[in-house]
Amino acid sequence: MGSRVVVLTGGSSGIGRAAALAFAARGDKLVLAARGLADLEKVAADCGGDVVVVPADVSVRPQVDDLARTALDAFGRIDVWADTAAVMAYGRFENLPPHVFDQVIATDLLGPANVARAALRVFRAQGHGTLILCSSLVGHITVPFMSAYATAKWGLRALTRTLRQETRDAPDIHVCELVPGSVDTPIYASAANYAGFVGRPPPPVDSAERMGAAIVRLADRPRPELSVGPANRLVEFGFAGLPPVYDALIGPLMSRLALSRRPAPPQDGNVFASTRRVEGGPARYGRTAMGAAAAGALALSGAAALALRRGLRSR
Ligand SMILES: NC(=O)c1ccc[n+]([C@@H]2O[C@H](COP(=O)([O-])OP(=O)(O)OC[C@H]3O[C@@H](n4cnc5c(N)ncnc54)[C@H](OP(=O)(O)O)[C@@H]3O)[C@@H](O)[C@H]2O)c1
Repeated sequence: MGSRVVVLTGGSSGIGRAAALAFAARGDKLVLAARGLADLEKVAADCGGDVVVVPADVSVRPQVDDLARTALDAFGRIDVWADTAAVMAYGRFENLPPHVFDQVIATDLLGPANVARAALRVFRAQGHGTLILCSSLVGHITVPFMSAYATAKWGLRALTRTLRQETRDAPDIHVCELVPGSVDTPIYASAANYAGFVGRPPPPVDSAERMGAAIVRLADRPRPELSVGPANRLVEFGFAGLPPVYDALIGPLMSRLALSRRPAPPQDGNVFASTRRVEGGPARYGRTAMGAAAAGALALSGAAALALRRGLRSR
């Protein structure tokens, strides 16, 4: 396979950064975009090779259109566009300032829509291209205190499926959904926070490198959906199979596993502007949190088994 032209929105941190390094190692040409120029330049230097950096906000449509033009001017085509740009906000829905809720939707749902519009326009003209949209396990389940993020990710999943249906006439155009579980990246610490405590990835936690490799895998062999995370299927099954059990468990589990005990003053985090990345290292969990994770996994397995038995009996 010759070198590809890959655009990565959200390529300056976490999963996008890991994907950039993985594509660069394969000799692909990269166009990296995010809001903050300094982090983009750091990643470009780490990648080496043919890399163009473009400061752009995915929630601002003309900036995404300009980004596509810059990529075409630099390399003449776009073979792959992976969008991993996103922000998060913690807090009960009633406590979340409406402008924070709206901007999370603008970035995490309207952003991918802007990306898809620009990418598909190029792909249609070329006759080929792979669009990889980064969803989340939270696009397949809901959790309290993350209403804006969950709403955006559910919407993104609907958009991705619709785009797949609408591109069936173009066999060389692919639209893929990556579904990460819980990944150790700066997104948690830099999130807007109206929950009182600093957020963290709930266990079991994967590495950004594993997700970066999954994005490259999708670019190599596109498929509709790739779910990566040891607990993804179990949690999805518990969510869909026995909603009352799931809904009773998920609040306490979120408080114990997804929020640390470190107090966080009310803040907008990086929702409106790029902030300096917090490279935190792996999150630490106390014994209570690990006990809660084990109890939650057991209860969800039980609920899933029960739901499965009921399903089999009603056939
Ligand atoms: N980490 C997890 O556990 C996890 C789990 C499931 C799904 N995901 C998804 O994986 C993707 C990557 O997340 P991550 O954990 O790698 O997050 P991250 O480390 O915080 O990286 C997010 C990237 O998006 C950029 N970004 C944020 N807002 C933007 C905007 N408006 N326009 C352009 N770029 C923007 C950031 O740079 P600037 O701030 O400089 O713009 C950064 O490059 C996201 O879609 C996220 O929802 C993550």
